[in-house]
Amino acid sequence: MSERLAKIRELLDAHEQGHLLSGWDQLDESSRADLLDQLQLLPWDTIDVVRESIVHRVDSNPPPQDLQPPVVCDPTPEEAAAMAERGIAAIKAGRVAAFTVAGGQGTRLGWNGPKGTYPATPVSGKPLFAIFAEQILAAQRRYGVTIPWYIMTSPVNDAATRAFFLDNKCFGLQRSNIMMFPQGTMPSFDANTGMLMLSDPGRVAENPDGHGGALTAMARSGALADMQARGITIISAFQVDNPLVQVIDECFIGLHESPDHSSGEVSSKMVAKVDPTEPVGVFCQVDGRTRVVEYSDLSEELAVASEVDGALRFAAANIAIHLYSVEFVASLTDPGADELPWHRARKKSSWWDPATGSIIDPAEPNVVKLERFIFDVLPRARRSAILQTHRACEFAPIKNASGQDSAASSQQIQSDLYGGWLKKQGVDLPWDEAGHVAASIEIGPLTAMRSEDLAGVELPGHVDQGGSLLL
Ligand code: UTP
Repeated sequence: MSERLAKIRELLDAHEQGHLLSGWDQLDESSRADLLDQLQLLPWDTIDVVRESIVHRVDSNPPPQDLQPPVVCDPTPEEAAAMAERGIAAIKAGRVAAFTVAGGQGTRLGWNGPKGTYPATPVSGKPLFAIFAEQILAAQRRYGVTIPWYIMTSPVNDAATRAFFLDNKCFGLQRSNIMMFPQGTMPSFDANTGMLMLSDPGRVAENPDGHGGALTAMARSGALADMQARGITIISAFQVDNPLVQVIDECFIGLHESPDHSSGEVSSKMVAKVDPTEPVGVFCQVDGRTRVVEYSDLSEELAVASEVDGALRFAAANIAIHLYSVEFVASLTDPGADELPWHRARKKSSWWDPATGSIIDPAEPNVVKLERFIFDVLPRARRSAILQTHRACEFAPIKNASGQDSAASSQQIQSDLYGGWLKKQGVDLPWDEAGHVAASIEIGPLTAMRSEDLAGVELPGHVDQGGSLLL
């Protein structure tokens, strides 16, 4: 041990991070070995570069220049039907898998557990994972195929996520068709000094490496090889916190596979921004390639810029729903491929202070976290398609404990959508002045995946004001 300790001490001194051994005397043998393992495996070259950039306040990712509006596909009903037919052929051929990024920390929501276990639906309080599982089950039944489901967890929530699935008998799916794997981590940096920090005397503080960590995690875990072995060619990827996501969308898959629109490497869905200053990433074109620009990187001038007809120039909001080809992901994770860039975010995170020997809970953001963003793969594609969709039908994220993008706002959007389906079938519903359903309505994926599926379902004639209906 002492020889190994001496080597690591040397390594730390070379990178000016010797304070990481401050808690050494308090550790037992096994914690000491764990700490040395962790220190040996840290990405030291990246750490030095990031530290320098924090100290000198250098922005490592200058925003792209010369942004042009993106090409968005808004198909006519006939075009959509043709795309859906193409998509169905791919699904029936067993070429499509689902993929959820569920490794986030969910700090804004403040839920004590993996976000996917959060009760999301307006009447039964069904957890997010159950909604996605039922959609997969319904699509499997409809098309007579297996749709494997890959879920990226984090080292922190992996065990709890697995336990949740086992406790719930995988929501009716076969366990052998669900594969979970944890994403990677990166050390967190002191936001002022750029130094690494300890989360306790024997552990360097780390955070998940962002949803863009999915690429390397897929390759490292064997998920990508599993897809290849199963003959999967298309990955339908989505975030864990949107209960309205269409996990398997025939039309979107068909667009992705249409050579007229796409090189079939990566496709995305967009919704129109609600207003020019909405804090969402927008699609644009740079040097003829599609990419997402974060709202913080879009100047106010560009954010409000409009076309001659008055429409916003950069109105296509990214809702983090993408299709990837397995081949494309494999090419991006080849050992020689360029890695995705790191993005820096200032966050609040508790840490162990060697000076006082206590855990500090900061009141203000105190660390810089490094994350990769999955949308940074877009410009790597030759031609990437964007499908126009509608917020009210496909996007009701649960991010915050209250207010916008909370469970309450999401459940209202869900009730409104299902209320609209029922209205089409002639059910009499209470509506308020703002056009929202004044009742809680929930339609599970096993009952209907689209409004048309309700045609054969027995429905009530009306729903009372303030009442609830679960189908
Ligand atoms: P968010 O950006 O909303 O982050 O993640 P979050 O961690 O869930 O929540 P906050 O910001 O701490 O409140 C969007 C999606 O990306 C996944 C999340 O699980 C969610 O599905 N994600 C995010 C990861 O899988 N890994 C990460 O490192 C970050």
